[in-house]
Amino acid sequence: MQSTIVDLNQLLAPVKPEMQLVDTWLTSNLIDDNNFVSDLLSQVFKSGGKRLRPALTIVSSKASLKDGDEISRLHIILAVLTELIHTASLVHDDVIDQASLRRGESTVNKKWNDKLAVLIGDLLFAQASICLARLMNPQIVGIYGQVLGDLCAGEIKQMRQQFSTSVDWDTYIRKSVNKTASLFAAGCQSSAILNRREEDVVASLKSYGVNLGVCFQIVDDLLDVTGNTDQLGKAAGSDLANGVVTAPALFVLEQNDAHANRLKELINTRAVSESDGLAEALSIICQAGGIEKTVQLATKYAQAAKQNLDCLSASTYKDSLAAIADYLLVRTN
Ligand code: IPE
Ligand code: IPE
Ligand code: MG
Ligand code: MG
Repeated sequence: MQSTIVDLNQLLAPVKPEMQLVDTWLTSNLIDDNNFVSDLLSQVFKSGGKRLRPALTIVSSKASLKDGDEISRLHIILAVLTELIHTASLVHDDVIDQASLRRGESTVNKKWNDKLAVLIGDLLFAQASICLARLMNPQIVGIYGQVLGDLCAGEIKQMRQQFSTSVDWDTYIRKSVNKTASLFAAGCQSSAILNRREEDVVASLKSYGVNLGVCFQIVDDLLDVTGNTDQLGKAAGSDLANGVVTAPALFVLEQNDAHANRLKELINTRAVSESDGLAEALSIICQAGGIEKTVQLATKYAQAAKQNLDCLSASTYKDSLAAIADYLLVRTN
């Protein structure tokens, strides 16, 4: 039986040279004629981030290359623009969540203010648009246009459900597709489009990205309950404190028992925003089996993602795509 690789760097070793190009671009190409802005942008990228989305884009590109073809500058640009959009969405998300810590550093909104964070996020989206234009591919422009709409729709849906305990599974999953999986899918799908692959390969890589992205968001929601701030580089427990009900809480709420009733009360009265109420809610979730059921749900999406790879011919990169799905279930940050 193959063991799961728990070190992301080891897992991504086959795409290291390409990822170095992506990183160089991200940390040095964010040119603005204002030194303050370019310093700030390079700090945002130098503070880290797993670079999972660009890595996935490169691995998908390699896994779906036609015989005799090689990775080109266009694949690198696709990976860069995917990370630019992700980072822009985080800068804006931290304004919405009033978060102070991201990637182990003060957020732009905390260090400066919300107005600057909105503008820095916009600037990153603008940089992504320039990359998109360089691809000269209207189909990919359409896909990423949809991603930008999905990101906003996901955040709006979440905002409208704060402190509500009547969130259903369909709404939760659809919100996760909007906020997270849509961008994962865009990178995977577009790599196959750049490779001029058949419709079924493009569609399968899209489905792989959707399933992987939902899995990723479910695990992010799990780590918000089980993780710690040092490990995550962002505040743990912040979803419930903000009244955002995710999978671990949903599993408890649907039980309709004493645990469910107490959790409902803590959320509806906004007691979860205070430290005592939050600690009680988190402990109810752990005691009532919310963690185990969430792991099972994430596993289901990881398995579905792996099945979507059946259309690809055997290669190291196909194996890496499967290994990434396994890694997402054991990641700790
Ligand atoms: C965080 O994404 C935002 C979510 C979609 C949950 P990542 O965990 O990939 O963030 P970085 O890029 O590694 O900081
Ligand atoms: C994902 O949601 C954010 C975006 C896709 C913009 P979260 O709100 O869960 O992300 P974190 O936990 O702050 O990284
Ligand atoms: Mg957030
Ligand atoms: Mg989160």
